[in-house]
Amino acid sequence: MQKVEITRMTRDDIDGVFAVEEMVRPEHHWSKESFYGELSNKLAYYYCVKDENGKILAFLGSWQILEESHITTLAVHPDYRGLQLAQLLIIKTIEDCYKNMVKYITLEVRESNIAAISLYEKFLFSSVGMRKKYYQDNGENALIMFTQNIWYDTFKNNFEKIKISINKVKYSYDK
Ligand SMILES: CC(C)(COP(=O)(O)OP(=O)(O)OC[C@H]1O[C@@H](n2cnc3c(N)ncnc32)[C@H](O)[C@@H]1OP(=O)(O)O)[C@@H](O)C(=O)NCCC(=O)NCCS
Repeated sequence: MQKVEITRMTRDDIDGVFAVEEMVRPEHHWSKESFYGELSNKLAYYYCVKDENGKILAFLGSWQILEESHITTLAVHPDYRGLQLAQLLIIKTIEDCYKNMVKYITLEVRESNIAAISLYEKFLFSSVGMRKKYYQDNGENALIMFTQNIWYDTFKNNFEKIKISINKVKYSYDK
């Protein structure tokens, strides 16, 4: 049984984070400086998933601005997909939102990114609009996705259901 842990991203994590970022987005990735910059942004919440040896497997970043949280980045190492790591990171982010009285969570996603869209729909995000030619590398449109109010019962009940299902996976997760 392999354990993974979720930690707040620190400067020591950036090399590992950047290695995943380059692998996941070889041609249009963030620079290391962008990640360093985010760590001194007071609105930013950045988390990593690490294995028992401290290897970075996944990361997610968000900004909380008043009653809204904006997911800025999410990536899972290609060898560690389908293991619920993205869900773990989203759960952590939503729990922060509850602590900080956030009401809505939003993000942009490439309209061709079926895996990510399906992931967000699982958490009851839905598409509310589109930013035309948002991505500079290939001119792809971005879907703008939003949750409903996360304090509503439908959102909360779905969130609780996902949290329970996470505990049943073959990996054990340190909270
Ligand atoms: C999208 C991504 C983050 C998913 O990470 P993951 O850890 O493999 O996802 P999980 O195992 O937590 O899966 C959660 C849900 O995502 C969806 N999903 C994940 N991979 C999928 C795939 N290949 N096809 C369709 N749906 C998929 C499913 O709804 C899944 O729920 P289910 O297992 O109940 O079907 C990962 O594929 C990735 O890093 N992609 C490249 C970067 C990216 O697209 N980032 C998001 C930018 S907005």
